[in-house]
Amino acid sequence: MLDGLPKELKEKLKQIEQEAFLELSSQSFDEKSLEDFRIRYLGRNGKLTQILKDIGALSPQDRPTLGQLANTVKGTLTQKISELSDTLKKSQREKLLQETQIDITLPGRPSYSGSFHPILKTMDDIVDIFKRYGFQVAEGPEIESDYYNFEALNIPKNHPARDMQDTFYISEDVVLRTHTSPVQIRVMEKFKPPLRVIVPGTVYRHDADTSHSPMFHQVEGLLVDEAVSFAHLKGILTYFVHELFSSETQVRFRPSYFPFTEPSAELDIGCIFCLGKGCRVCKHSGWLEVAGCGMVHPAVFEAVKYDTEKISGFAFGMGVERLTMLRYHIDDIRLFYENDLRFLEQFS
Ligand code: DAH
Repeated sequence: MLDGLPKELKEKLKQIEQEAFLELSSQSFDEKSLEDFRIRYLGRNGKLTQILKDIGALSPQDRPTLGQLANTVKGTLTQKISELSDTLKKSQREKLLQETQIDITLPGRPSYSGSFHPILKTMDDIVDIFKRYGFQVAEGPEIESDYYNFEALNIPKNHPARDMQDTFYISEDVVLRTHTSPVQIRVMEKFKPPLRVIVPGTVYRHDADTSHSPMFHQVEGLLVDEAVSFAHLKGILTYFVHELFSSETQVRFRPSYFPFTEPSAELDIGCIFCLGKGCRVCKHSGWLEVAGCGMVHPAVFEAVKYDTEKISGFAFGMGVERLTMLRYHIDDIRLFYENDLRFLEQFS
């Protein structure tokens, strides 16, 4: 019996080995079935483990040879399982990479960058030009008193100039400012001459069509010092036109009337579309009106208690929408306020 036992065990071991390797080579494993396989042979009650236990019970003479044999089988099987497990893990990782692969040939997602609104851009450009001449930026309230918007600017009640301005009244004495000129008064009340200020701002008038909007923008300028003359005004505004448009652009100062300046003028530029030949935009005059200006009226200086004997100054005001429309050849003011990205993106 004892003789036959090792032989029997040896046969059984061979059989298990064959069975195991046959299974390994004929079946395709996944992680779970491989683990089941391992348990079936090498687990606590596995077939091979069982044999090892039986071998342990053999006589000391038979134990070593058979033990060695069984250990070799166990070793190869363990090694094979671990190799298979590695291949499985590797192919799983590759599959995952395949599935989540990035196609670098696809076009990238565009990232949209914002841009300045053309009105704001023009306003900034205007302000920058005057800054080079030492002008400082000033601002004032959009809800303004009748006094600053009119009275102090030499536009008393019942003055016909009030009709020109289609004012939005909030109450009898409070208005939405119709122009940026009231900031002239506010600045002069606060500071002594010499002064150079440039005032960008929003203004309001009861008016709306293709070239008028009830809310629009102006840039006001004011320079006060001793011995300021109309020649200074002409010089600075000519420089401004050449900077904003081109050094070729023609400039003309045409006599006009504003209550807060004397003398007053309208600044015209040679039509940038037809170069003076006459077209629809300049109404066949060859000229485009771009700003009002003049020497500060003594009544305005008196309102802020400046000494009219000692000082003089000039002022000017321009519409930003109009300048922007000319710069970019835009023919309808409403385009500025519709927030259509197709329009706005053209200015980025
Ligand atoms: N405030 C005037 C307007 O809105 C524009 C203007 C004209 C401003 C002449 C000035 C100036 O400072 O001197 O129509």
